[in-house]
Amino acid sequence: MPCNYPYNLKRRLLFYTCTCRIARVASYSPVSMAGLQIGLKQREFLMNRIDTNQSVGALVREKPSRSRVFDSYGIDFCCGGKVSLAQACANRGVPLDQIVAAIDMDDSRVVAGTQINADKMSLSELCDHIERTHHAYLRQELPRLDQMTEKVARVHGDKEPKLREIRALFLEFQAELMPHMMKEEQVLFPVIRQLEVSSIRPAFHCGSVNNPINQMEHEHEHAGDALKRIRELTNDFLPPDWACNTYRAMLDGLKELEGNMHQHVHKENNVLFVKASELESTLPTSSPVTNL
Ligand SMILES: [Fe+2]
Ligand SMILES: [Fe+2]
Repeated sequence: MPCNYPYNLKRRLLFYTCTCRIARVASYSPVSMAGLQIGLKQREFLMNRIDTNQSVGALVREKPSRSRVFDSYGIDFCCGGKVSLAQACANRGVPLDQIVAAIDMDDSRVVAGTQINADKMSLSELCDHIERTHHAYLRQELPRLDQMTEKVARVHGDKEPKLREIRALFLEFQAELMPHMMKEEQVLFPVIRQLEVSSIRPAFHCGSVNNPINQMEHEHEHAGDALKRIRELTNDFLPPDWACNTYRAMLDGLKELEGNMHQHVHKENNVLFVKASELESTLPTSSPVTNL
């Protein structure tokens, strides 16, 4: 006998998505989801489809579009991606069944082929992709945000002192990200590319690939903390009524920066680094042949 739950649920979810788009409410905000009545059998159906013991990083690795759901709920899927979905929901005080329904909704509306799936790329392709998209984005966007955070802090800092803190956080973030990218491009990514074409474990000057990976993950955490603090200080990037256009554009840019960084760090921490570490551990050791 055919089961009607997915069909009925999908109809409600489509209506819900449409309403939110008009109202400009965050698509999966907890408030919005509260209007989604999930029956016991529907909840059981969804829980069976999504393993709530899986880590949030693995869930996004499986379907990258799910990152939007986690962003909306303020759940960290990049640096904090090793935590299970159930634990992440408990930490944020988000009802598990709501977020499972939101993930299912996102899965059902994603059109195949419109999302980059880092998990399907070779390691070298993924390194190239990260450099061409995320690193290029940062090199283009950081100078623009630098100007805006400076101007907004200078002009409105007396009225709203937290703008000076945002400026300081941004400067620190920028100062760390530029050398971070250089280290990835000049040390870690070449090591990973070398691993992928090796039949025996190369002798790297850094020892194991895990050494630069650990350092990069540590720096990701620091950058993530700065972005979290900026989100807090800006009330989730919400401009005050009196905000000028530069202030509003700055918040819009910072919000986009956060979203882009989440994607960027997820692809590195949860896909590239995990696979590179696994690959190195499976290669047989031999005499040193490489001097990277
Ligand atoms: Fe990177
Ligand atoms: Fe990185």
